[in-house]
Amino acid sequence: MEFIDLKSQYQASRDLINGRIQAVLDHGQYIMGPEVAELEERLARYTGVRHCITVASGTEALLIALMALGVGRGDEVITTPFTFIATAEAIVLLGATPVFVDIDPVTCNIAPGLIEENITARTRAIIPVSLYGQPADMDDINAIAQRHGLAVIEDAAQSFGATYRGKKSCNLSGIGCTSFFPSKPLGCYGDGGALFTSDDELASAMREIRVHGQSKRYVHTRVGVGGRMDTLQCAIVLAKLELFDWEVQQRQRAAAVYDALLLGKNAGIRSVGRREDRTSVYAQYTVVLEQRDALQAALHQAGIPTAIHYPVPIHRQPAYASLGSPDACPISVEMAGKVMSLPMGPYLSTASAQQVATVLLNAADVARRSCPEFMALPE
Ligand SMILES: Cc1ncc(COP(=O)(O)O)c(C=O)c1O
Repeated sequence: MEFIDLKSQYQASRDLINGRIQAVLDHGQYIMGPEVAELEERLARYTGVRHCITVASGTEALLIALMALGVGRGDEVITTPFTFIATAEAIVLLGATPVFVDIDPVTCNIAPGLIEENITARTRAIIPVSLYGQPADMDDINAIAQRHGLAVIEDAAQSFGATYRGKKSCNLSGIGCTSFFPSKPLGCYGDGGALFTSDDELASAMREIRVHGQSKRYVHTRVGVGGRMDTLQCAIVLAKLELFDWEVQQRQRAAAVYDALLLGKNAGIRSVGRREDRTSVYAQYTVVLEQRDALQAALHQAGIPTAIHYPVPIHRQPAYASLGSPDACPISVEMAGKVMSLPMGPYLSTASAQQVATVLLNAADVARRSCPEFMALPE
């Protein structure tokens, strides 16, 4: 079994993908070819924003977003430590300081109620992460930001296609950033990403920063980066868009199979909680477990791949440890020891999801018997 089955996905879209790749090989415009603008227009329409700017990766999108806002040395940016390292990395690369705010234990997204007490005169922006595919509490976060004159960048690397109160992820705040890393819900076959905004000035700054701060050929009006997404990768995303809505439904089908079999069984297994006012694209289907390591080993033995997203919160990473106490953000620390992501994807069959659930339930049962004081988590 694959953790994320990209081979079946390719087979399902093979002709579309091959056709799109061949078209690029035929016209030969490998950098900023026509597929770049075509994809940007399609994605802007899909999310409902005025501007989409494709970039070299999700990390580059975060970096360019912060650069367009003018974030730099001495500034603080509030974010979550329970995310992929890139979220904080972009802040640090600009000489600014990430200020970590703990997560909601149910959704594992940043807890809005803890944000305001961390705002200082130096705070410039908030970067919530829509973790595992489910949007963060964006309205609450936007309201706080508005009260304090801060920018909000949604790190939607895992949530492209999800909705929140009827709007698409990437269109939930001033700037949205996503990633087309191959295993993401909408992935390319290399590195890629995109920025989303309805602010014309920010969009034009981002477009310049993406190409070395260039406003006209060889006129560099600001400091930028080499941050373009190449034409071939844009072509691949265009092909994959054709099946994307169906694939999201298939992810939700697989998640529903897991939900039905795993939750409410008094087995000490809960999933990361969902909110009714939003949908998830299940970049990951993540469960919260006592005795995580033993259960992960049991799945591994049965040939079922799993992953931990993420085993160490960022404030405990060696390169970031100077940013605060290791005892800060206790919920993030606790969740890092309990979360486990199961195989997920549009091509995960119902039978495979059932097999994963059966092995996990059996392993949880064995773990429970071997540890009588083991209490079931509230489910
Ligand atoms: C939450 C989050 N932010 C940022 C990134 C960075 O994206 P990329 O790998 O495309 O640079 C990722 C992807 O790995 C991610 O999961």
